[in-house]
Amino acid sequence: MTDKNKLSRRKLIKLGMAGTVTGVLGASESWGEIVTIPTPQEVEGPFYPVADQRDKDADLTRIAGQSGSAKGQYIVISGFIKDDSGQPINNAVIDIWQANAAGRYDHPRDSNSAPLDPYFQGWAVIHSDNNGQYRIKTVKPGAYPATRTWTRPPHIHFKISRQGYPKLITQMYFPDESLNATDLLFNSKNRTEQAAMIAQETGEYEGLMAYTYNIVLRGH
Ligand SMILES: [Fe+2]
Repeated sequence: MTDKNKLSRRKLIKLGMAGTVTGVLGASESWGEIVTIPTPQEVEGPFYPVADQRDKDADLTRIAGQSGSAKGQYIVISGFIKDDSGQPINNAVIDIWQANAAGRYDHPRDSNSAPLDPYFQGWAVIHSDNNGQYRIKTVKPGAYPATRTWTRPPHIHFKISRQGYPKLITQMYFPDESLNATDLLFNSKNRTEQAAMIAQETGEYEGLMAYTYNIVLRGH
């Protein structure tokens, strides 16, 4: 465990999340042996993409055919899609959308004055592989104003579809974000649910900060 992980764990313990955090951290080390709650549902929000785009691949830091690359801190997020008995789910459709590093969505309804980033893909539609795994490279999204008094913490929207399972729409949060503590959506979840919605910092992948975010679909 890195010093950073120790720190985030201490912070979470301070928040009273020690029990659930142990479970979540343990899950990344021996996934499948630990009973895990289904990933909580969250609202889709107003910024699901409305204009189709050709490039929806797993690298959101570049758009095919463009010479530039996205602004911001590049990160890697990976994990498993599993059912609630721990079985990996292959070929699940993973639909991912997020704000750019400045906190702006490429969406007509986003009135945030933060700049658009013409080189940021902003949307990906990928599939879990034969082991139920997925991996994306993206930028860490910026926080953005939801209302005059409410700033959303950095988060990434996920929609998971697979025949035989109810569709899951959720949001992934980052550890150690002070805005998590005041976010109205995040705080409508109980602590176990919150722990299941926060990615874990898991060191580096190809030189980039890496996070693990496992997703558990409810059985039928
Ligand atoms: Fe959002």
